[in-house]
Amino acid sequence: MSFQLNNDIILKINDLKCYYQLKGFDLTQGLDAKIMEMLQYRPSFEPKPLEKQAIENYWSFGREKREHDGIDYTYELEQLVIKAVDGTSLSLHRGESIGLIGETGCGKSTLLTAILQLFADYLSHKEGEILYYPPDGLNPINLLSLNNVEMNNLRGLVFGYIPQLPKESLNPWLTIGFQSGEILLERLSLRQETIKERVYEYLGKVALPAPKTNYKKYVDSLSHGQAQRVCISMALIADPEILLADEPLASLDAVNQAIIIDLIHSLKKDLGGSYIFATHNIGAATRLADTIAVMYGGEVVEICSVSKFLSNPLHPYSQCLLNALPWYAVAKDGLLEEIPGKTPKPNDWPSGCKFNPRCRYVMDKCKSQKPPRIFTEDTCVGCFLYE
Ligand SMILES: Nc1ncnc2c1ncn2[C@@H]1O[C@H](COP(=O)(O)OP(=O)(O)OP(=O)(O)O)[C@@H](O)[C@H]1O
Ligand code: SF4
Ligand SMILES: [Mg+2]
Repeated sequence: MSFQLNNDIILKINDLKCYYQLKGFDLTQGLDAKIMEMLQYRPSFEPKPLEKQAIENYWSFGREKREHDGIDYTYELEQLVIKAVDGTSLSLHRGESIGLIGETGCGKSTLLTAILQLFADYLSHKEGEILYYPPDGLNPINLLSLNNVEMNNLRGLVFGYIPQLPKESLNPWLTIGFQSGEILLERLSLRQETIKERVYEYLGKVALPAPKTNYKKYVDSLSHGQAQRVCISMALIADPEILLADEPLASLDAVNQAIIIDLIHSLKKDLGGSYIFATHNIGAATRLADTIAVMYGGEVVEICSVSKFLSNPLHPYSQCLLNALPWYAVAKDGLLEEIPGKTPKPNDWPSGCKFNPRCRYVMDKCKSQKPPRIFTEDTCVGCFLYE
């Protein structure tokens, strides 16, 4: 397989950077309360558990200078910036499927939600371009320039999305059936009877037992695996051009994983769809995808075909990921190896190559310079070893 596929590009991400901006954090214990009052400091929201966890991973503090009664007062801690995606470039071709892999916190979910513009406003800040190429050959649309109403016209119809947290993502106030068919009503204006039949069909396709009974249920009466299958059927029900799936197999047992893998394969064959799967499960990624994109520290460090990834991965991090898998070690007749060190927190990202403290091939320049992106015949890799 040649790295440059001959088919059209459907989605192109150019040097994307995403930051979570958490404003109004009350990290100000120790600052005099009276001064805070005089400065009319008002925390704008209570941090939720996820955001609390993010504080521990903070990347940098904002600074703000205020003046009161002639006193200059500079304080930090009002704004917290977490850099989650750091200069990612990636192209998805029509009919191609990409498996996005990497350790926890490397930015997989942020990348997918950035494509869909699903961040709450106060959390997001993005740089770069996300270009969607419509099938009619018109000029590409930069998704980052669209407003919420314009994005809503694409969500569901152009982009199907399977969220990482299925139970939390379903609406607890609406029945499974109603929310599954909502897009067919809102965007395609289909008749109620047609919608119902289609929802039954798709709930059946994802092997949800008794679709007619489950149609009337609410999310709290479903297991995680069942909720995951509902989310998968919702993502596929309007035949989207691109499927963005975040850990689509995470809550499923082996039998249901096989059903979903077959379903996605058949949809790909029938509809010629294009997919990105974010997953920890490298085995599933190699079964579901044509191309593997390896993320580390918010960057895509290697892109290559599945066969190339399994036979000759170039980036030392890709090699480490594979050598840590029992089935890979057995197949290669090699030893199971652990990945040395820990994933750095966003505030600890080392300069130069972010993988340098964990890399067995590290050179002096890796510690100070950013590695170039090298294109070989069948791989794109960010590493000095291939200059
Ligand atoms: N809502 C949020 N608010 C603040 N920071 C966040 C938020 N979501 C993610 N982050 C931070 O952004 C970085 C990337 O997180 P992300 O969820 O994209 O990683 P991931 O690769 O999907 O991880 P996992 O494999 O665990 O799902 C992490 O440092 C995380 O702490
Ligand atoms: S650039 Fe240097 S430190 Fe980074 S992966 Fe390559 S050899 Fe290792
Ligand atoms: Mg994730």
